[in-house]
Amino acid sequence: MFSFFRRKEKRHNPFEQGWLNGLVDIHCHLLPAVDDGSKSIEETFSLMDFLHSLGVTRHILTPHIMEDYPTNNAVFLRARFKELTASLPADRASSLRLGAEYMLDSTFGRRLVEPLLTLSDRHMLVETSYMAPPMGLMGLLADLQLKGITPVLAHPERYVYMEEKDYVAVKKQGVLFQLNLFSLFGAYSSSTTEKAHGLLEAGYYDLLATDAHHLNPLTNLVSGATLPISMEGDVRTLVENNARLFSF
Ligand SMILES: [Fe+2]
Repeated sequence: MFSFFRRKEKRHNPFEQGWLNGLVDIHCHLLPAVDDGSKSIEETFSLMDFLHSLGVTRHILTPHIMEDYPTNNAVFLRARFKELTASLPADRASSLRLGAEYMLDSTFGRRLVEPLLTLSDRHMLVETSYMAPPMGLMGLLADLQLKGITPVLAHPERYVYMEEKDYVAVKKQGVLFQLNLFSLFGAYSSSTTEKAHGLLEAGYYDLLATDAHHLNPLTNLVSGATLPISMEGDVRTLVENNARLFSF
C-alpha cells in the first residue's frame, strides 16, 4: 500500500520553518506518573519547554485509560491534573487541559458508563492494540457515535493489522484520523513512517499530535528532521484543524 515514487524534491526542516507554530497538541502523556509517559513533574516541565521550542503552545493531556492502568479513571486523573496545574505558574497552567486516550479493549464498554474524559464535548481519543483489532471494532466506534461522540483514532499509521481497505472503511464511518507527528521522522518502525507519509499525502489525516511520552527520543528525532516542501500545506492544514476544533 501507499507506495511512493517521489521525484527528487527540496526538503525543509518543518520545525525551523515554523510549520508547527501554534499547534494545540491533542494527544500527549505529560500528566506525570500515571502511565508510561512522563515520570515526574520535572520531566513534564522539560517536555513542555521542548515542545514549546517546536511551536506547540497548548497541550491536551491524554493519559491512557486501559486495562493496564486499572486506577486511571476520570476522578483519579482529574485529581492528578489539579495537582499538576497547582504547581505551575498561571500562564503555563492555562496552556493545559485534561483528556484521555481510551483503549478499545474489553473494559471499554464499562468505561462508557463512567464519567468521561473527552477532548471536547463531542470528541474522544481512542486507540486499539497495535497488532490486532478488538472484537467488533466498527461496532465500538458506532456505539460512541450513537452517543453523539466523534471518535478520534490515535496514530492509525501504527496499526500493523490495518490495510488500505481498513483505513477506507473506518474513515467512511466518520472517524477522525490523528497523525503522530514523530511517525513522520522514524519514531517507530520504517513501515510506520512509510504509512504515515502515505496517509498524509493521500489526505486521510484530520488532526495532528505529538503523543509525547519522554524527552530523549524526541530531541534526537527533531535534529536533522526534514520533510518534502510539498508536505508543508498538508501539515499546516492539520495544525489549523486542531485549532479550529480544540482551541482553548
Ligand atoms: Fe498515546
